[in-house]
Amino acid sequence: MQNRNNQFPEGFLWGGAVAANQCEGAWNVGGKGVSTADVATGGAVDKQREYTDGIIEGKYYPSHEAIDFYHHYKEDIALLAEMGFRCFRTSINWTRIFPNGDETEPNEEGLKFYDDLFDECLKYGIEPVVTISHYELPYELIEKYGAWRNRKLVDFYVNYCRAIFTRYKDKVKYWMTFNEINVVALHPFIPAGIKLKDGENKEQVCYQAAHHQFIASAKAVKLGHEINPDFKIGCMLLYPLAYPETCNPKDVQVVNEMMNKHYFFTDVQVRGYYPNNMKRYFERNNINIEMEAGDEEILRNGKVDYLAFSYYMTLVISSKPTKDTSTAGNMLGGIKNPYLEASDWGWQIDPEGFRIALNNLYDRYQVPLFCVENGLGAVDKVEEDGSINDNYRIDYLRKHIAEMKKAVTIDGVDLMGYTPWGCIDLISASTGEMKKRYGFIYVDKDNDGNGTLERSRKKSFYWYKNVIGTNGEEV
Ligand code: BG6
Repeated sequence: MQNRNNQFPEGFLWGGAVAANQCEGAWNVGGKGVSTADVATGGAVDKQREYTDGIIEGKYYPSHEAIDFYHHYKEDIALLAEMGFRCFRTSINWTRIFPNGDETEPNEEGLKFYDDLFDECLKYGIEPVVTISHYELPYELIEKYGAWRNRKLVDFYVNYCRAIFTRYKDKVKYWMTFNEINVVALHPFIPAGIKLKDGENKEQVCYQAAHHQFIASAKAVKLGHEINPDFKIGCMLLYPLAYPETCNPKDVQVVNEMMNKHYFFTDVQVRGYYPNNMKRYFERNNINIEMEAGDEEILRNGKVDYLAFSYYMTLVISSKPTKDTSTAGNMLGGIKNPYLEASDWGWQIDPEGFRIALNNLYDRYQVPLFCVENGLGAVDKVEEDGSINDNYRIDYLRKHIAEMKKAVTIDGVDLMGYTPWGCIDLISASTGEMKKRYGFIYVDKDNDGNGTLERSRKKSFYWYKNVIGTNGEEV
């Protein structure tokens, strides 16, 4: 998809993104099992979500109903089509297909739901882009096997992939194996279902789980290409662009060390082998990754076709430990950047960093990129006439798209598409809130679960429709 005309390429995949567990609801409908997302309670910017041991009566679990996309998807896809979406990124809830995760045969009712959903997209010419595991896995796999600590998960995951690849081989071309795979090193429960035991070495546990996910991903890539050679199967990285606080080489060094820990994940998935810097890091820190004979070959044979990533914010790192870390809610840590504004949740807004991010990733890997998450979580106000004038969201996206365009047309970055996060309002992953909204489409529901679930178009809806309609010429 090379570009020479100062424009986004024809066929650029404009769209939007959601995740099944944050929008579908219907948590126990159609034979669905309990997932790890179903045991996450509501939280807030200053209140951590709780991950309970099973479902506890009386607790509020936002994913149980979410925005009830399960029952509203026809109406919702029609709205996305009205905006001119060329693609729609969603995920499959593993527990609709394998309710406990270790069954040998899939649940037909779950498979049928996604058949209908993908057919509905294709009816409007919207290409489904599917994340296979987006921050959830069957809860039962924790109880019985210890989740991704256990290598057995590789087989369960591959079995799940076989079921969905086979079923949707003529409906879905674009896949991603794990959402934000690098988050396992920060928060082991969300992507890998792991709760640490007292005294455990967090890094040992997390990197071992990551190894299992690498093997599962590589096997899935190989299997997917056997089932349909036209499949494009990518990895997905949370891209945490970091700047040194000063030009002191010590600050640059800590940035490099931090970035290497994130690049580790894409190094393995894109290049097909472990980078030396992290092998040495493991040695120095007594981290022993258990590998089986043949693993290196599996990784080499399961390199991804493209690199997908999320980009929301950037951070500033200092070599001095006692700096002001008051960018509340900037979940990646770091210190305040005096040149940037932050969202109400403390995420520092950096459109120019987006161009830098695109260049860094493309220069490093030389594979097509896909920006599958970007956007502003904000509180929206519904006016008396029902309108929602989300100019702040338009401003955020406009500036990011302008920088993305420079990366594509000036710098020559090979970018497949752009799917802003939460194109319809949904449950926040970090806080479980509804009021942290990203959508072009408003959903009438509050943090406590009250509301009619009625959908309405925000001002950004009409703005983004024009962006897509002009292929990014008018932003
Ligand atoms: C990404 C996740 O980290 O950020 C999404 O892939 C998540 O699942 C998104 O929703 C935005 O984060 P939050 O916490 O505002 O929902």
